[in-house]
Amino acid sequence: MTAPLTILGIESSCDDTAAAIVRQGDDRNQGRAQILSSIVQGQTALHAPFGGVVPEIAARAHVEKLDHCMEQALAQAGLKLTNLDGIAVTAGPGLIGGVLSGVMYAKGLCAATGLPLIGVNHLAGHALTPRLTDETPFPYLMLLVSGGHCQFLLVHSAEHFQRIGGTIDDAPGEAFDKTARLLGLPQPGGPSVEQAARNGDPMRFPLPRPLLDRPGCDMSFSGLKTALLRARDSVIAEKGGLNAQDQSDLAAGFQSAVTAVLAEKSRRALALYLGLNPARRSFAVAGGVAANGPIRGALQSLCAETNTQFIAPPLALCTDNAAMIAYVGIDRLRRGAIDDLTLSARPRWPLDAATPSQLGSGKKGAKA
Ligand code: KG4
Ligand code: ZN
Repeated sequence: MTAPLTILGIESSCDDTAAAIVRQGDDRNQGRAQILSSIVQGQTALHAPFGGVVPEIAARAHVEKLDHCMEQALAQAGLKLTNLDGIAVTAGPGLIGGVLSGVMYAKGLCAATGLPLIGVNHLAGHALTPRLTDETPFPYLMLLVSGGHCQFLLVHSAEHFQRIGGTIDDAPGEAFDKTARLLGLPQPGGPSVEQAARNGDPMRFPLPRPLLDRPGCDMSFSGLKTALLRARDSVIAEKGGLNAQDQSDLAAGFQSAVTAVLAEKSRRALALYLGLNPARRSFAVAGGVAANGPIRGALQSLCAETNTQFIAPPLALCTDNAAMIAYVGIDRLRRGAIDDLTLSARPRWPLDAATPSQLGSGKKGAKA
């Protein structure tokens, strides 16, 4: 029997301030992890006038919101700080100001309470979410696809992740957001481009499918955005502006190109993964872009064709949240992998140090 552990998680690596409490090891729940509370306060409205996340504004907003989120998380769980066994915080990768805000806040709480401090890799939080939500056994294949991340990971254990491909420039969510801006659609771009694309003809503007002609699982989305810009400008040059149908056709062309790239690269990643693990046929997704209907549908079909279980955690746990950080914290605390007050914030922190991504920093910060 394992002793129950109750952990507060704190997340502030991008533009969501979050706190959550997760408990595991309670006999009444057969050892399953239970999310006792999960609070997420977004900052979309603060960044909207600037067309992207402004790191300084994000960091200040985190400082203002962290305490409130933590208090709400405790209140919703009906607990006090003295009922906790530890505090887990995202220590990277992400926007340095945001990560620092969370790390300093967690250090303050730990110094005041004497609770153990556990620094967590944000990407590990995403990658281990299928275990929190579905108790998915190791190993499995994961596609992390959001505004800041895009990578395929072979998840061997809570400590061993193998990166087998990812974007070499923009993340797809970032490309959706830029596309929305180019088309005059509201932010966040993913949902508005998806909605516009519903009435569009994806064949009117045939856009490139970058890197499909190259072997492997790497992807590229920045050229697609440039191609969309050219297609948009040619319509504007011809007609003097975009009407609703033009917007929809451009959105549909863009979405079908992203879907085709993600589907084909997932096919390759899955073939590679299943070649190594034919008995563990699980493919999990996480990240805001996994909410996209056609993309999710394409991945689901791929799994059905290959007799593979498709695992898509509920959207609130697919996108940035602190429950995933608390969950990783429980695992680390059980293994004695705790930190002290020298814990530093790491803007870059690849999960698979042997195969780091080729990415630089994008609008959502460093993308490891
Ligand atoms: O995971 P997430 O909340 O945050 C991080 O980026 O870490 O993902 C947000 C991203 C945004 O870029 C947003 O435009 C995109 O996910 N997104 C979508 C959809 N919903 C959100 N992209 C495509 N289709 C959607 N329905
Ligand atoms: Zn994330």
